[in-house]
Amino acid sequence: MKLVDELKLQIVDKSLQAFRAGLFAGTSGNMSTYIPEEKLMLITPTSVRYEIMKPNQIVEMRLDGTVLSNGKPSSEWHLHAEMYKAHENIRAVFHTHSPYGTAFAVNHMSIPAVLIEAYFFLGGEVPCAKYATPGTPEVGIYAAETIGDKGGVLLANHGVVAVGKDLAEAYLRAEYIEDAAKIYTFAKQIGTPVELKQL
Ligand code: 13P
Repeated sequence: MKLVDELKLQIVDKSLQAFRAGLFAGTSGNMSTYIPEEKLMLITPTSVRYEIMKPNQIVEMRLDGTVLSNGKPSSEWHLHAEMYKAHENIRAVFHTHSPYGTAFAVNHMSIPAVLIEAYFFLGGEVPCAKYATPGTPEVGIYAAETIGDKGGVLLANHGVVAVGKDLAEAYLRAEYIEDAAKIYTFAKQIGTPVELKQL
């Protein structure tokens, strides 16, 4: 199978897995990967239900917005493109609305590092980027500025972004971001969570 076809299949499989795991509701969320050698971004289409999304609906496009295949890309394609433009090491971007992580984003709070996994998988706390209107380039510009070398970033009043060297790493980080937010929320209800400043 050609690399592009293999990656489209992975995007469809991982998006459906994430939908079933509750990382987003309805048609929210979007996933992409970037192949720099071909200057090609593969991204989920806008507003297609994950139960019926097919690999041939994954949109092929350039980072400047030029669409090379059929279909309309995610309304958040700017977010994905800005992350790739700003960070050469990022090859996959996964935007979720996972509920615990998004609750931090609604409060404009970073997710503190209270578990060792936060350091192993996320590089410490998950920062929150300032608010921008969904779908605008600013969503991506602020996120790309704020993420630094962390594995993810929150979008104020919007959701979560996990990044990685490939789709598998971005997916794993999205799971750990949600876990970190959930455990912190539980810990806060029964006491005073102690932040891990280093391993
Ligand atoms: P799309 O269906 O256009 O990808 O948008 C969903 C979303 O999550 C916007 O934040």
